[in-house]
Amino acid sequence: MKRQIIFGMVAAAFCAGAAMAETGPANVEYTDGAITQSLSGTPGNPEEGKVVFSTASLGNCVACHAAEITKDLPFPGDVGPALDGAADRWTEAELRGLVSNAKMTFEGTVMPAFYKSSGYIRPGNNYTGKAGTEPLAPILNAQQVEDVVAFLLTFKE
Ligand code: HEC
Repeated sequence: MKRQIIFGMVAAAFCAGAAMAETGPANVEYTDGAITQSLSGTPGNPEEGKVVFSTASLGNCVACHAAEITKDLPFPGDVGPALDGAADRWTEAELRGLVSNAKMTFEGTVMPAFYKSSGYIRPGNNYTGKAGTEPLAPILNAQQVEDVVAFLLTFKE
């Protein structure tokens, strides 16, 4: 009996901890486009963020953004502005908001929302020709957003 109670308490504490640690895309709160709280609860890793930044199936940020700091990465695009000095222009919270859903900062931007699971206009369900069922998986997970933000924070002039 006593054992069961202890087990229950440990399980409850574990669940509460897990729920507090990560914020799902549907629960993100934006303040003027910015997100003050970490999405994953774990500090971002700039090295991992560089991988997210340059990998086509992840952030693919290089497809639209160039920067001095990323000049060793192949195929830089210029659809978006050069990101040199981005960390001087934006706070960590603003960068987190920009990566999660840039439309909260720049209305109608072509920059994709990387941490969003609903509210799409025409979400396709793979090649079935039918609309997908929301919520859809975001392009990046919470930790990948934090990693990219940590990498962006190194863009100083
Ligand atoms: C399809 C092109 C595209 C992709 C992909 C893209 N962006 Fe952007 N981004 C833009 C555009 C365009 C803007 C300028 C906002 C506007 O006026 O629309 C922008 C703006 C920004 C800004 C603010 C610019 C400034 O003043 O420094 C940051 C930071 C940024 N993007 C980061 C990223 C990161 C990080 C990724 C990858 C996770 C990414 N972008 C992927 C197009 C893109």
